Amino acid sequence: DGSGKGAAMVTAVAQRLALQSHLVLQPFCLSVHQLRTISDLLMKDLIKGLGKHSHHKAAVKMLPTFVRSTPDGTEHGDFLALDLGGTNFRVLHVRVLEEEKVVDILGSQTCSISQDIMLGTGEQLFDHIAACLADFISSQNLKEQTLPLGFTFSFPCEQKKIDESILIRWTKGFNCSGVEGRDIVQLLKEAVQRRGDFTIGSVAMVNDTVGTMMSCGYRDQSCEIGLIIGTGTNACYMEEMRNVKRVEGEDGRMCINTEWGGFGDDGTLENIITDIDRTIDQTSIKPGVHIFEKMISGMYLGELVRLLLVKLTEQKLLFKGQRSTTLLTAGTFPTKFISEIEEPLSGLENAKRILSSLNVPYDFVDARIVRLVCDTVSSRSARLCAAALATVANRIRVNRGLKHLKTTVGVDGTVYKKHPNFSDELQAMVRLLAPDCDVTFILSQDGSGKGAAMVTAVAQRLALQSHL
Ligand code: GLC
Repeated sequence: DGSGKGAAMVTAVAQRLALQSHLVLQPFCLSVHQLRTISDLLMKDLIKGLGKHSHHKAAVKMLPTFVRSTPDGTEHGDFLALDLGGTNFRVLHVRVLEEEKVVDILGSQTCSISQDIMLGTGEQLFDHIAACLADFISSQNLKEQTLPLGFTFSFPCEQKKIDESILIRWTKGFNCSGVEGRDIVQLLKEAVQRRGDFTIGSVAMVNDTVGTMMSCGYRDQSCEIGLIIGTGTNACYMEEMRNVKRVEGEDGRMCINTEWGGFGDDGTLENIITDIDRTIDQTSIKPGVHIFEKMISGMYLGELVRLLLVKLTEQKLLFKGQRSTTLLTAGTFPTKFISEIEEPLSGLENAKRILSSLNVPYDFVDARIVRLVCDTVSSRSARLCAAALATVANRIRVNRGLKHLKTTVGVDGTVYKKHPNFSDELQAMVRLLAPDCDVTFILSQDGSGKGAAMVTAVAQRLALQSHL
């Protein structure tokens, strides 16, 4: 009796789902009302981070980037771009063409950054970077030229000018000794000098959010927000200079790197933090910092799902209560599994394949519950991100005294790009939370590399103009 069995199955799923959605998953389901509260809290923190006397204590750092202008289309020239922020280091040779408004990548090289280097000394890290750069320069026959260099360094840095950038702290699994509190430009130059086989030109330091905004800004002049949802999460936007109290001058705008990953580091998010979030934080390389990021970004989403699955198993709501050593081991559920399991057509099949590889005894109901867990975790991430983005869009709108703002966000990051419905969910929620803002999303291609070149190019254009 097929239909009878089918109905029984549906009831079985429903019963177990009802149970856990109450006990375990409920705290992960954020209502629109909660998201509005989060958005209000973040708005207060943005203001605190900008203030002359309050920024020292602010969880959301709101770092001036010394990027005052988005591209105007007259930039041009050849540049080197470096990109460090995830598990790879990239070097690119980039050409900005004025007439065609395009940025061409003439060559690029990727060097992996091993766990040993991520957790080693600063000297080892910068020697590795310089070695990779040397290799690239000689393979591209660039030894005789001294090209200006844009360095996308995707960690929170206190910038005093475009070519001085002091690392506040490592995030995203990096923890090289002797770098926090030091100027990254200086450390790079010292490593290049230690080798002595090539030289570098002027350097512009860029966060990946800024690179993303600038590379999209070349195509769309109204691109004034850069958003990353990848290994980490963060955004930058164009703020009015009169509000940037830490930098002299009242006129025009400056791009601010919000470092919103640090939202909640002072306890602001206590009401929505779950036990699982606490475990993620405590077992991370840097406990107590970047709390918001730990609820959202790719470095942590898979682990959040894994811990939830373990908890549901302990409560005998999954896998007949049978533990598997694989599932009990940290890092065995990478974030890409979430995207695979949530695929609309192949998701359940993927779930079964993945559960087999994790050595858990699953049945049909288990596979569906696992999918629900993935959906719960990724939806919370998309919603939190939407609340934060809505805050930034509203901030720009209010700054300009507008009833209605039309703006563009340049976006990059694996979570946003690879997850089947993350971007849809994020965009829908932004529309709901910021109804007076009409936000267009554009995907950045190679934003970090191209963007670094753009920043360097804009810096050059402005330097030239100020000499005229
Ligand atoms: C982390 C870094 C931030 C970066 C983001 C995305 O949050 O602190 O600087 O922009 O990751 O890569």
